[in-house]
Amino acid sequence: MILVTGGAGFIGANFVLEWLSGSNEPIINLDALTYAGNRENLESLDEDDRHIFVEGDIGDFTLVAKLLSKYQPRGIINFAAESHVDKSIHGPEEFIQTNVVGTFRLLEAVRAYWTGLQNDIKQNFRFLHVSTDEVYGSLAKDAPAFNETHRYEPNSPYSATKAASDHLVRAYHHTYGLPVLTTNCSNNYGPYHFPEKLIPLIIVNALAGKPLPVYGDGQQIRDWLYVKDHCTAIRLVLKAGKVGEVYNIGGWNEKTNIDIVHTVCNLLDERSSRADGKSYREQVTYVTDRPGHDRRYAIDASKIERELGWKPAETFETGIRKTVQWYLENQSWVENVQSGAYRAWVQKNYLERTN
Ligand code: NAD
Ligand code: TYD
Repeated sequence: MILVTGGAGFIGANFVLEWLSGSNEPIINLDALTYAGNRENLESLDEDDRHIFVEGDIGDFTLVAKLLSKYQPRGIINFAAESHVDKSIHGPEEFIQTNVVGTFRLLEAVRAYWTGLQNDIKQNFRFLHVSTDEVYGSLAKDAPAFNETHRYEPNSPYSATKAASDHLVRAYHHTYGLPVLTTNCSNNYGPYHFPEKLIPLIIVNALAGKPLPVYGDGQQIRDWLYVKDHCTAIRLVLKAGKVGEVYNIGGWNEKTNIDIVHTVCNLLDERSSRADGKSYREQVTYVTDRPGHDRRYAIDASKIERELGWKPAETFETGIRKTVQWYLENQSWVENVQSGAYRAWVQKNYLERTN
C-alpha cells in the first residue's frame, strides 16, 4: 500500500479518488483536517476498505512512525501543506510549522522506517514530495518557462516554506540516500478546489451576486493545469521517475488572471445566466494588489513529457468547462465549505482591499 499526506485537501482528495478508481492498492491517508481538509471530499469512499483515513499531523513523529511500522507502505506521497499565498502573507507561522517543520519531521520518521527495510523493498521504496512552480519566483514577460534547473527565488512566505521543504527532501537523498522524487507543478484547478483560490472563488462569488475581486491590474499570468492531469503525472513519477530527480509539471496554459475571470463569467452566462440577463462580468471589481505579487509563472514540462511520456488529457477549454459544471452540480459542497472560519477569512482578506 501507499501512504498519502494531505489527502483530504484539493489535490490530495482528487489523487485518492483517482488512485482507487484505477487500482486496488490500498491508501492510508494522513490528514490534519485543517480548514482546507474536508472529509466530504472523500465521502464516496466511506464504505471502502481500501481507504484508511487517519486524522493527524505530518509533524507528529510518533504517529507517523506508528503508521509506517503498522502498514509498511511501499511509498509516500506528501501533499500536506499550508497552500494559500494570501494566508501566508497574513500569518506565516503555520506555513513554517507545516511546510518546513512538518516536512522535516515526516522525513525523519520516513528515514528511520526506510533504514530498517530490507533488500528489494528498501530499494523500491519512494518518497514523492509534491511541490509548486512558485519556488522559482516570478518570470519576466518574455523569459523562458521554468525548467528543473531554474534557480530558486521564492517571494512569498508560502513559496519560501515550500522551497525550504524541497531543499530538505533533496538533502535527505544526498545525505542519507532516501529514494526521493520531487514534482513542481503549476496552478491547478478542478473539482473540490477550496473557494479561497481564484477560480472557485470567482464561481462562488458570481453565483452569490458578490463582487469578483481582481488583484491589481489583473495582468498577472499563471499556468493552469486540470487537477486530474496533475494526479496522472504524480502516478507516473511515482512509478517511473528516476530517484533523486525533479519533474516540472504543467500544461502549457498561460493565461492572465483577467482572462480567467472572463472565461469563467462567459461559461456561467451560458449555463446559469443572471436573472437580469446581464453578464457576470458586471461583477468584476479591481481591488488592491497582493503585496509582492508574482507577475508570471510558466512551466516547461518537456522533461516529464520526454522522459516519462506524460501529456495532459485536458486543454484549458475542456478542463474549465468541466470545473464550472462541477461547481454548478455541487452547490451543497460549496455551501458546506463556507464555514464561519471561511467567512471570517473573506472579511479579513477582502474588506481591507479598496477598489
Ligand atoms: P489544500 O490546502 O487544498 O490541502 C492541503 C491538505 O493538507 C488539507 O487537507 C489539510 O488538512 C492538510 N494538512 C495541512 N497541514 C497538515 C499537517 N500539518 N499534517 C497533515 N495534513 C495537513 O492544498 P492543495 O491545493 O491540495 O495542495 C496540495 C499540495 O500541492 C501542497 O503541497 C501544495 O503546495 C502543492 N501544490 C498545489 C498547487 C495548487 O494549485 N493548488 C499547485 C502546485 C503544487
Ligand atoms: P491563487 O488562486 O491564490 O493562486 P496563487 O497565488 O498560488 O497563484 O491566485 C491566482 C492568481 O489570482 C494570483 O495571481 C492572485 C490572483 N487572485 C485575484 O486576482 N483575486 C483573488 O481574489 C484571488 C484569490 C487571487
